[in-house]
Amino acid sequence: MTTGTPTPSRDADQAEPRSGGPTLGRRAAIAGAGAAALGVVAACSSGGSGGSGGQSSDLPEGAPGTVLGPTSEVPVGGGAVFANQQVVVTQPAPGRYQGLSAICPHQGCSVNAVQDGEVICPCHGSRFGLDGAVLQGPAASPLARRAVTVQGTNITLA
Ligand code: FES
Repeated sequence: MTTGTPTPSRDADQAEPRSGGPTLGRRAAIAGAGAAALGVVAACSSGGSGGSGGQSSDLPEGAPGTVLGPTSEVPVGGGAVFANQQVVVTQPAPGRYQGLSAICPHQGCSVNAVQDGEVICPCHGSRFGLDGAVLQGPAASPLARRAVTVQGTNITLA
């Protein structure tokens, strides 16, 4: 069903706030920003279609410079799944953002939620920490890292 191939991971980690930034890109699935206790994210993406709409975007999905969404959508101690770009952004500590691939290393499903400080894969129940580390299998390896930066109030792929 899903033909999504895992995106090569980049080695960058956290981003720090900067100023200025591009406009918001595509729709992002996001967590409840204001709620502190439960950082719940939903927005299931059934990856695979990968269909590019042939729009006049100068950046392909997942390309450096792609704006994922505002920092306000990534709660401290939680995260948000940006399904269109197949990226999860977490905020383990205030102002410290971690980009992760949303592609589960088990069988390639897209993780679809961040709950109680854990990134959840709906297919077989793997759970990952906010740093991508495996908390519960069957996944045997962590979520790949994606480099992100903060520009103004937006999180952007680096
Ligand atoms: S694909 Fe994620 S747990 Fe199996």
